[in-house]
Amino acid sequence: MRIGILTGGGDCPGLNAVIRAVVRKGIGEYGDEIVGFRDGWRGVLEGDTVPMDLRAVRGILPRGGTVLGTSRTNPYALDGGPERVRETLERLGIDALIPIGGEDTLGVATKLSEAGLKVVGVPKTIDNDLDSTDYTFGFDTAVGVAMEAIDRLHTTGDSHHRTLVVEVMGRHAGWIALHAGMAGGANVILIPENPFDVDGVVAHCQHRFDSGYSPIVVVSEGAQPKDGDLITTTGEKDAFGHVRLGGIGQQLASLIEERTGREARAVVLGHIQRGGTPSPFDRVLATRFGLSAVDAVHDGQSGVMVALRGTDIVRVPLSAATAKLKLVPAERYAEAEVFFG
Ligand code: F6P
Repeated sequence: MRIGILTGGGDCPGLNAVIRAVVRKGIGEYGDEIVGFRDGWRGVLEGDTVPMDLRAVRGILPRGGTVLGTSRTNPYALDGGPERVRETLERLGIDALIPIGGEDTLGVATKLSEAGLKVVGVPKTIDNDLDSTDYTFGFDTAVGVAMEAIDRLHTTGDSHHRTLVVEVMGRHAGWIALHAGMAGGANVILIPENPFDVDGVVAHCQHRFDSGYSPIVVVSEGAQPKDGDLITTTGEKDAFGHVRLGGIGQQLASLIEERTGREARAVVLGHIQRGGTPSPFDRVLATRFGLSAVDAVHDGQSGVMVALRGTDIVRVPLSAATAKLKLVPAERYAEAEVFFG
């Protein structure tokens, strides 16, 4: 078979492990030809391809980012976009497509499969907010980076008797904040799913100071206070209509400093969470997803996404995986709250 592969949306540690697995299994076990599309859907729209043979994937397992490049191009936001996708695939004789992406890339994949194209999706995102899979690869690496930062911030915060507010990514889901905050022993964790009370946050910080230590507050970029708005977007939107988030950490640090009368600083981890080498968990998960996606294509499947359920890789309908975001349930947040203050 001739199988197309692409990586779309924000990059994420583990993308290269999926690509490698697809190429190694596709060529090695099925005798496939793998065609890489550069920069996500842009490459498909423009027919911008790169042949993916065994040499092309040598040494890429530990590398962060994606050797195929990525973009947030949305074919459905462009005139004649879906038709151009179909034309490219027909012209290049692509039998099936394996898009690796999050809600946006796989949202496009869902529509294309409903329009009759053969598509098997692979879930990726550091945000871990894709439904129908227990975990996406990239999340474990991002949490590890954020946790290490929190560990380091405890010692400098305590030395200077100041609050440190750590802003992490995650968009509208608080998974990175929750896991990094729990793993790093944060004194307050704020997530988009639970609008926060500023007085409560200040009280936790004060309590931490009273016990002789300095507070670490982990705030997800999409978190919001219960009352009033903090400006947490730059106002810019991407091709899928998402606003670019950022700024909550600094605003919160200023409020905490004002109310506690003690210095507070904000640290924005930003793209450090997305860059660099994947963790062992993410390498293995991404590899298993890639292997399973090739099998699904050869089983004649389409409109499905490979997913992790417990320790098994399963196939789920793409439409179910992209219908809604997987958010942090209230009971998971309650577990973290035990350690606040
Ligand atoms: O979806 C992954 C993610 O890193 C989000 O956590 C973040 O809001 C967004 O992408 C940032 O996107 P970019 O850096 O591509 O503008």
